[in-house]
Amino acid sequence: MPNRFIKWPAPTVSTSRRGKPFLRWAGSKRKQLSRLASFWSPNHTRYVEPFAGSACLFFELAPGSAVLGDSNEELIEVYRVVCNEPERLYRRLCRVKRDLKTYRRWRQLNPKLLDRETRALRFLYLNRNCFNGIYRTNRLGDFNVPMGTRQGAYISKDDFLNCSLLLQNVTLAGGQSFRAYSVNEISRSDDNTAIRQRRVNDLGFSGGRLFQP
Ligand SMILES: C[S@@+](CC[C@H](N)C(=O)[O-])C[C@H]1O[C@@H](n2cnc3c(N)ncnc32)[C@H](O)[C@@H]1O
Repeated sequence: MPNRFIKWPAPTVSTSRRGKPFLRWAGSKRKQLSRLASFWSPNHTRYVEPFAGSACLFFELAPGSAVLGDSNEELIEVYRVVCNEPERLYRRLCRVKRDLKTYRRWRQLNPKLLDRETRALRFLYLNRNCFNGIYRTNRLGDFNVPMGTRQGAYISKDDFLNCSLLLQNVTLAGGQSFRAYSVNEISRSDDNTAIRQRRVNDLGFSGGRLFQP
């Protein structure tokens, strides 16, 4: 079915229980949020974003139902841990020192050898403390971004717990088998079923464009 791209300007904004993204992400749509959010209307019942990154539009809209996908498996795992165990993760994050020695020590840990929660903690810590929220790996898949020079505060515990709350109604799809190519053409892996089943009241956001079936 062809996409019906939405024309500017458009309907109302939903402001209930809005969240703040807990990740920084290069290429995020943070600066265009108010414009993008204005396209969400009460008729939309589900938000779909196959290239989620920091999912800042999702958190801004706080939809009752959503599908978030990303080919970065560790990223999707972080969303799962924030959804299920936010308090302990946040407490552990706040305990890790934010200096160069500690940053390098966490960066050189092999995520595959860590348990799920510690892997999420490492991802979150590196994301919040690396240069400009960039996610970059070398050919061996090792995260190799240097520490950032400016240290912004972490989001508050309340905001973090609110993110967890908002993630309760989300179907997460991700990993190596997950590859979204465009709004219409999404690879055939099982993971993508949720995204491929598009519904009439979906609002989707992909590649910087909004779409609905
Ligand atoms: C520019 S970021 C998305 C930013 C997001 N809209 C935000 O506001 O934070 C692009 C994301 O798409 C993911 N990605 C790249 N190619 C992909 C693919 N073929 N399928 C699914 N995700 C992909 C990347 O891992 C990255 O997280």
